[in-house]
Amino acid sequence: MDDEELSKGIPKLDSTEFWYVNVKISILRAALELHVWDKVAGGTTRAEDMVSEEGWDPVGTTVLLDALCGMGLLCKDSRGYCLTPLSDFYLVKTKSTYMGDVRIAQLTWEHRGTLADAIRNGKRPIVKNWTDSEMEAVWAGHSIPCRLSPDRYMKYYEALWPALGFEKSKNIHVLDVACGTAAETLCLALQNPSSKIALQDRPRVLEEAARIAESLGVSSQVTYVPGDWEAVDFGGDYDVVLLGSIAHFYGPEGVTRLFSKARKALLPGGTAIVSGPLPDESRCTEEYPLVSAVWVYATSEEGTMYTFSEYRSLLEHARFENIELLEYKGNKYISARSQK
Ligand SMILES: C[S@@+](CC[C@H](N)C(=O)[O-])C[C@H]1O[C@@H](n2cnc3c(N)ncnc32)[C@H](O)[C@@H]1O
Repeated sequence: MDDEELSKGIPKLDSTEFWYVNVKISILRAALELHVWDKVAGGTTRAEDMVSEEGWDPVGTTVLLDALCGMGLLCKDSRGYCLTPLSDFYLVKTKSTYMGDVRIAQLTWEHRGTLADAIRNGKRPIVKNWTDSEMEAVWAGHSIPCRLSPDRYMKYYEALWPALGFEKSKNIHVLDVACGTAAETLCLALQNPSSKIALQDRPRVLEEAARIAESLGVSSQVTYVPGDWEAVDFGGDYDVVLLGSIAHFYGPEGVTRLFSKARKALLPGGTAIVSGPLPDESRCTEEYPLVSAVWVYATSEEGTMYTFSEYRSLLEHARFENIELLEYKGNKYISARSQK
């Protein structure tokens, strides 16, 4: 962009960066699909050995492996290619810290450019419905960073519960539906040893959450409700039900089923907290929720990113009242009281 273009009011378009990021993404996807890090970890360290074992193209194999070196995902020593600390930790399939499945799921969310087709014909989800059980391992993989550094997450959420209107010292019984890492509720357990937390998610995700609870020393306060939220019995007597980034995967009927089930699990006057990306009412200004809405469109049958007023009417329909919008570190939380 030269001064003349700027003076003519031509907006700057960073096409080199766009091209470069896309090339790197494709390199990563190819390397994950070809399992190159597993091969290096398994002792196949030279391009020519990979080529003869797999029947791959020699030139393509070499440029790919060299590019991974440039990207810091491989390096070279006297035996050929070797793993870097990063790829050894996250990209070797046999390791409990393997994040390759998560990356593949993120890279293939719209099946290589078929988003436009889905918009033309309305056929969704494009690849997989991310609330189905077959996505369990991918969701479990999302918890690995929290399992590795739980203290960082605890620090992030340390002032959450007072911001949501709960005193740190109050005994509360919380159900965390589709909890994922459960960082928010495990933080409460850590801060308040008399609080009790029930974690609900698919079994493999709960295994990760249990490891995080163990490392934080709060296991005795935690119980588990494994399975599909639609199928399991939530139990009752909760002061709070947390519904974090789950409602948006469902259409209005599914959301109403979720909210009604949450209300039945609460004590009269108990609080449901709904969190997740919330677009502005005109769906125009804030990028993150609007971009996330396209991903939700492609990865669910009927999901959408609801605005605050849409959630408010769905919550009222499910017999909640005193519905308020709260914020913590820029994240939105909707608090709703169950009717007595
Ligand atoms: C976007 S994550 C949200 C995690 C966490 N609640 C948060 O706010 O960060 C979605 C979670 O929902 C879980 N999930 C998706 N479908 C589910 C279902 N049908 N039943 C139970 N959990 C489900 C996934 O396993 C995943 O942990």
